[in-house]
Amino acid sequence: MTAASPAFPVFPPGFTFGTATASYQIEGAHDEDGRGPSIWDTFSHTPGRTQGGATGDVACDHYHRYPEDVALLRELGVDSYRFSVAWPRVQPLGSGPVNEKGLDFYDRLTDSLLDAGISPAVTLYHWDLPQALEDRGGWRVRETAEHFAEYTRAVVDRLGDRVGRWITLNEPYCSSFVGYAEGRHAPGAREGTAALATAHHLLLAHGYAVKALREAGAREIGITLNLDRIEAASSSAADLGALRRAETLHNEVWTQPLFAGRYPEAEAETWGALADGSYRQDGDLEIIGAPLDFVGLNFYRPLTVKDAPHTEPDPLLRTATDIGVVETDPYGTRHTTMGWPVVPEAFTDLLVDLTARHPDLPPIHITENGSAEADTVSPDGAVHDAERVTYLQDHLRALSAAVDAGVDVRGYYVWSLLDNFEWARGYGQRFGIVRVDYDTQERTPKDSYHWFRGLIASHRADAPVQEH
Ligand code: FCB
Repeated sequence: MTAASPAFPVFPPGFTFGTATASYQIEGAHDEDGRGPSIWDTFSHTPGRTQGGATGDVACDHYHRYPEDVALLRELGVDSYRFSVAWPRVQPLGSGPVNEKGLDFYDRLTDSLLDAGISPAVTLYHWDLPQALEDRGGWRVRETAEHFAEYTRAVVDRLGDRVGRWITLNEPYCSSFVGYAEGRHAPGAREGTAALATAHHLLLAHGYAVKALREAGAREIGITLNLDRIEAASSSAADLGALRRAETLHNEVWTQPLFAGRYPEAEAETWGALADGSYRQDGDLEIIGAPLDFVGLNFYRPLTVKDAPHTEPDPLLRTATDIGVVETDPYGTRHTTMGWPVVPEAFTDLLVDLTARHPDLPPIHITENGSAEADTVSPDGAVHDAERVTYLQDHLRALSAAVDAGVDVRGYYVWSLLDNFEWARGYGQRFGIVRVDYDTQERTPKDSYHWFRGLIASHRADAPVQEH
């Protein structure tokens, strides 16, 4: 970027600006008003699973402080706010009776957003599966997908008259492979074929939810994926093979059934006998591939992969991610505190490539993008998070380059409004544009919040026109 380029990238009229959060990461109030336990309660309370033993018991206490958080959103000037509904608040046991008090919370939140002129974008599943369903097999079993449809109906019945945008699942890659194969996330399992079954059942749950949402008259329906921009470490046949397997694992498991009506071509070569398809039934692809109004994409960093020997010799114990690929990092760039390389051009390339591969892809919303930084509070009481401002500015420029190249992107949500519980990494990773002091729950808008506010304001009808 040259010093002369304008501070704010420019997006077409009608472009949506927003911020995103997720229930378990911010709400707290883990046992209030009838909420049942989720797999993340169990996992975070198991010694050794999260950094420092962090849990979401209190998190940002958003369940009680949401009016203050909505006021921050109003001041920011966002068009939309993406939040997730906690399934165990709505159905404490994951099926059967609906807990009206749980729905009341999302009802109040929705109304206060609308009062502030902000349109809600609701994610139905951001990883907090009711523990009672995990006890009955979790995503390994097909019934969980059926229960998800029942839960979706309960939520849309209550909020459907006021919520325009619906996201069925957030990053099913993480719910399946990180949760059931790598075991880094809840429920912390390390399995092979069963992990592949979870990916299939999540897609099926998505398809059932799309049907339930359509029947209820929902206006805009999509799914959020974390598709990856992946490159091979070299052009050797071995590394290109690793690239193909990694593409299957990260991308094609999702894009092929959702947008091309088929299962990934390279699954046998990727997983061998693990991919036995025993969990599939005739007709599933039609359910999964129901037309969508948009696709949500989360982008943080690119991946580079290299061939590697399988580390688990026993095929019965070999997990679904142990496919002979290791990640390397050739980027001579800055890394965020997550250890992720900062490569904005990869964002443009991902979007341009995806659209070339899937010309019929529905319009795109960037449902998450942001960076974790080592923020500090300055003596003046402010948080001067210059690295985050640069990250957001460069990624928004990369996004605007993709729009210029013809990619149909309609919106962008910063991850995240607040510092929050970063899953297995606990509270050490701060992604917020608003700082949260976890001792006092005090919120302090960071410089990045003020920068994003300026960017949004520059797009308002009465703002002076900027050069691109
Ligand atoms: C994504 C998750 C989100 C957050 C960011 C940093 O994978 O969807 O909840 O943790 O990463």
